[in-house]
Amino acid sequence: MSILSGISFFKSPSKAILLDMLVQQSSQLKEEILRLKKEKDVVILAHNYQIPEVQDVADFTGDSLGLSRQAATVPQKTILFCGVNFMAETAAIISPEKKVLLPDTEAGCSLSDSITVDELRNWKKQHPGAIAVGYVNTTAEIKAELDYCCTSSNAVNVVKAIPEDKEILFLPDMFLGSFVAKMTGRKNIHIWAGECHVHAGITPEDVNKKLESLNDSELVIHPECGCTTPFMYDVADGSFDNSKVSILSTEGMLKHVTESKSKNFVVATETGILHRMKQDNPEKTFVPASEKAECQYMKMIDLQKVHDALVHETNVVTVPKEIADKARLAIDRMLAIS
Ligand code: 13P
Ligand code: SF4
Repeated sequence: MSILSGISFFKSPSKAILLDMLVQQSSQLKEEILRLKKEKDVVILAHNYQIPEVQDVADFTGDSLGLSRQAATVPQKTILFCGVNFMAETAAIISPEKKVLLPDTEAGCSLSDSITVDELRNWKKQHPGAIAVGYVNTTAEIKAELDYCCTSSNAVNVVKAIPEDKEILFLPDMFLGSFVAKMTGRKNIHIWAGECHVHAGITPEDVNKKLESLNDSELVIHPECGCTTPFMYDVADGSFDNSKVSILSTEGMLKHVTESKSKNFVVATETGILHRMKQDNPEKTFVPASEKAECQYMKMIDLQKVHDALVHETNVVTVPKEIADKARLAIDRMLAIS
């Protein structure tokens, strides 16, 4: 036996032991989290992009709209929000009487960073009388400047609810904005040129490659994707089968793949969503349009941080009252429509 093969012989059992220890540690943490949340009467909300272990300890997993609704209606006085900063802020705005904890306050969002309050105020000045519609992926300060908030699942309905003659400023996501303009046929809509680096990175080439590799597959796309626009046009001009492509929010995607008769799906969004898709539909096949589509902010939260947030109840997300009161108007208008 060579020295090298001897090393690998000794290495492999220690790797296995290490893995075993990690699994044990993770299941102990999981048990402790479940015990603590019950003892402290805390509800855990997790976005569909969270790592599988975190989704598995949550009371509710969902999209931005679904989690906002849950935050507003759950009886618990403390919400542990496993998502990114703007989501926890939205929960704090909707339920000012509740304590909202974010396991890692550094969990931001490149899309919400793509517009500042000063930029929005200047844009509004250039279009007096226009209605400002902003995606939920915005800071509380931006929301306080909006007329309407929207999420990926209700953006079309929110825009449809605005009188035809009113100019609209749609922000900050240009792909969602162009999807909404196309779906509503609206010409007087101005779109901010912001994007999410994760979704913008999913290209039509990525999607086509995966569609070719998976026979008879359906395509589900999040409207924040850079690949959304060409596929929308393909569907519109008949070069792609309409029934085989759906542009949906993350929760809309989960519902769709469960209800569809298709067995194979190419999924164009952050890869975290595949966990629940596979869990809910073990007999179906799901492949990500791009394995690289991982949001590093969503992935900042792990079981240890969830545990620590439950123990110490630090990392409380608060929004100053004057900002929250204004932002709540835009969020409430959205919730009333959808
Ligand atoms: P959903 O509202 O569809 O969950 O999307 C939120 C998000 O951050 C997408 O990147
Ligand atoms: Fe923000 Fe994109 Fe991450 Fe969603 S996936 S939280 S839009 S950076």
